[in-house]
Amino acid sequence: MSSERSSFTGKVGFVLAAAGSAVGLGNIWRFPYLAAKYGGGIFLLAYVILSVTFGFSLMVAEIAIGRKTQLSAIGAFRALDRRFAFVGPLASIVPIIILPYYSVIGGWVMKYISGFALGQTQRMADSGYFNAYIGKIGEPILWFVLFIVITTVVVFFGVEKGIEKVSKIMMPILILLILGIVIYTVCTMEGAWKGVIYYIKPDLSHFSLMTVVAAMGQLFYSMSLAMGIMITFGSYTKKEISIEQSTHQIEIFDTGIAFLAGLMIIPAVFAFSGGDQSALGQGPGLMFVTLPKIFHSMPGGTVIGITFFVMVFFAALTSAISLMETVVSIFMDRLHLGRRACCLLVLGISLLLGLLSTLGYSAWSEVKLLGMQFLDLFDFISNSVLMPIIALLTCIFVGYFLKPGTLIEEVELSGTFRGKHLFSVMIRFVAPVFILLILLSSVLNAFNIIQI
Ligand code: TRP
Repeated sequence: MSSERSSFTGKVGFVLAAAGSAVGLGNIWRFPYLAAKYGGGIFLLAYVILSVTFGFSLMVAEIAIGRKTQLSAIGAFRALDRRFAFVGPLASIVPIIILPYYSVIGGWVMKYISGFALGQTQRMADSGYFNAYIGKIGEPILWFVLFIVITTVVVFFGVEKGIEKVSKIMMPILILLILGIVIYTVCTMEGAWKGVIYYIKPDLSHFSLMTVVAAMGQLFYSMSLAMGIMITFGSYTKKEISIEQSTHQIEIFDTGIAFLAGLMIIPAVFAFSGGDQSALGQGPGLMFVTLPKIFHSMPGGTVIGITFFVMVFFAALTSAISLMETVVSIFMDRLHLGRRACCLLVLGISLLLGLLSTLGYSAWSEVKLLGMQFLDLFDFISNSVLMPIIALLTCIFVGYFLKPGTLIEEVELSGTFRGKHLFSVMIRFVAPVFILLILLSSVLNAFNIIQI
């Protein structure tokens, strides 16, 4: 982020940029495996309810804080209230943790592009293929390194704009492809319809506290909340742009793509495995195991497979670039080093942490902390611990120190704020209590003190 504060050209520019950062592996890779694992329709329902109440309020708050102060997270909290200055640096730890493991998944995506390109569709459709692959010591590391190096090169040479242009073309193609795959699986595969019902119809018997815990973590992750990113975006936003409307649009876009990704994967899981619990609950590998099976069964599947994973690669790359940008700008501010030096530093840290994540599946698969291997642990610390803490602090700060009225005024600079009552009730009462409960239960669960 340059020292001179540029601003988005208009409303469309702002919404597209924010949506571009929000849409990524979170939507396509993370959402479907959580929805499959934590109850299908009931997860979807919990996610949508949380998103329109709580995600909405938090996103409005972050954008308004940024626009009001014209500063990114670190400066913004400090400028508004010195006692809350620590929230900025705390929020900036999140992207540092996410970027490395995000790149490991980005590496998996690249491996799958190469697999389809080499005509290995049939092999990749084998059930054991994915686990055998991530269990290897050498290759996953190479792909991960390649992904993070590409990201670094883009940020180092400052060619983000070019990549963003490419990804804007890719996004509609990705959406069309997902739609096509959904129609193909639902119409041609036996058993897929059962999966559609599992995914869409809420079934209370599948509900557990974990459903809500997972839905909330996913909400933060997918909408890039609780890590200061939206504050930065807000600081680039002009006063006449409606924060409320933009937030709705970003949410609808982000949730829409996640919904479609789930519809692409979950019915197929039912078609291939009958939807038994072990297939639904397999976690991070779900997309990588399921999609090749679909592509293998489809006419022209190899070409579709390559195209699909290339699109996902671009969605992942733009998110990784934006994550890295964030970390680099934080380092530049804090360490007073040049941009390129910071790029290399971030690369070094990411290589180290990402290496742990890849080895956690192979050489060090025995090493478990809190019952988790490294990738899950990083995911847990960022999504289930740090983000809820930051969201909680933001709510307490806005609700009781800054006062919701201050941000409502900011939002109303561009017209009436229709959701202002919802906003202030959420921020002051509902969200803090709720986040605290979720935070406690997920941490106590991780330490095996309670079972949820
Ligand atoms: N929202 C992104 C996704 O769905 C991941 C992400 C979280 C992100 N925080 C971010 C991307 C900050 C860019 C910047 O994949």
